[in-house]
Amino acid sequence: MKGVATTTQGLEEVTIEEIRELTGKSAERVHLGLVKFECEEFDLFKLNFLGRSLHRVIVLLLEEHFSGLNDIYRKTREVDFSKYIKAEHSFAVRAKRCGIHDFTSVDVAATVGQAVIDSYMEATGRRLKVNLEEPDIIVRVEVRDDNFWVGIDTTGEESLAKRGYRSFKHPASLKPTIAYSLVRLSGWQFNESLIDPVCGSGTIPIEAARYACGIPNMKEVKLYSMPLFNSEPFQEFRCKYKPTKRKLRVFGSDINERYLRGAEENAKLAGVDVTFFKADACELPLDYDVIVANPPYGIRMGSPRKVEKFYERFAANIRRHDAWRSAVIITARPSTLVKYMGEPEREINILFGDLPAKVLMYS
Ligand SMILES: C[S@@+](CC[C@H](N)C(=O)[O-])C[C@H]1O[C@@H](n2cnc3c(N)ncnc32)[C@H](O)[C@@H]1O
Repeated sequence: MKGVATTTQGLEEVTIEEIRELTGKSAERVHLGLVKFECEEFDLFKLNFLGRSLHRVIVLLLEEHFSGLNDIYRKTREVDFSKYIKAEHSFAVRAKRCGIHDFTSVDVAATVGQAVIDSYMEATGRRLKVNLEEPDIIVRVEVRDDNFWVGIDTTGEESLAKRGYRSFKHPASLKPTIAYSLVRLSGWQFNESLIDPVCGSGTIPIEAARYACGIPNMKEVKLYSMPLFNSEPFQEFRCKYKPTKRKLRVFGSDINERYLRGAEENAKLAGVDVTFFKADACELPLDYDVIVANPPYGIRMGSPRKVEKFYERFAANIRRHDAWRSAVIITARPSTLVKYMGEPEREINILFGDLPAKVLMYS
């Protein structure tokens, strides 16, 4: 069986490494934000249960060139969907399209939807119900130039990025999948100290601690309801699974007390032990092994002038303390950071929703 995982554009290398660690299988980047891998049924469960950089795990059913919507219909109709959808289940097609075409993603969804219904009817004599609002099963299709793929989304409507522990919402919070990926890129070892000195609602230290302790995702694993999948081995694995107890040195500080209270609330819900304290990131002694930070950009919060001053002082503080081994900073103002921090050892372009940002890595 082949699977694809969606992830943050630019952070595919972290997802590839994570898939290798969790399943023992190798994966490859197909294009920005999409990774492909060989898998078994159990791997799909495990990736949904423990995957931290991935957004969705999809069983790949079809990957083809096409020459028009009719061709997409014809090729999709050849797939036997009765292996994945029970007759009493409803389904919806979610379509994405990139490139120049004389049709829209709505046309793609309608075409694939009809092909699924017709193929199912032919295989079972039953007509599948469509439910666009709350489908039991989601069929994903992506059209890119003259290629397309179709798959069954084993994650469901809500992405794995929705962790379920964020009762406090920071106005400029970082996606947990990105926060986890930054921790991985820092090369943090569990016996090292780690700090986010601009932690806001605590996403980075919380993700670091959840990763170190192997705390599973809170989301229900959707795969249970698919006819093809035998969930028993996974149920057994899940019952026996125990996160690792570790004494960690993971810290989060921020200048805003309200955010710190929110971070504490989130860490409690996330089931991790993180020490939060109030400090000015420009003055705090940064005597930690690893620094992972998501400083303000002055785009969603704060004014650009104040942000420039902050970057100057923050960079000077990091430079003043040379005890750290690795510093990973994500920012939508990379040139300002580089102006004061110097050239990074490595940088990665990523997309924060629609906002281009950079991950800058120093050591
Ligand atoms: C982009 S937000 C961080 C969001 C965080 N990653 C999260 O997921 O919630 C930047 C944070 O920097 C904090 N901040 C701004 N100036 C600061 C300073 N001088 N010292 C410490 N924190 C500061 C803000 O209070 C804000 O919470």
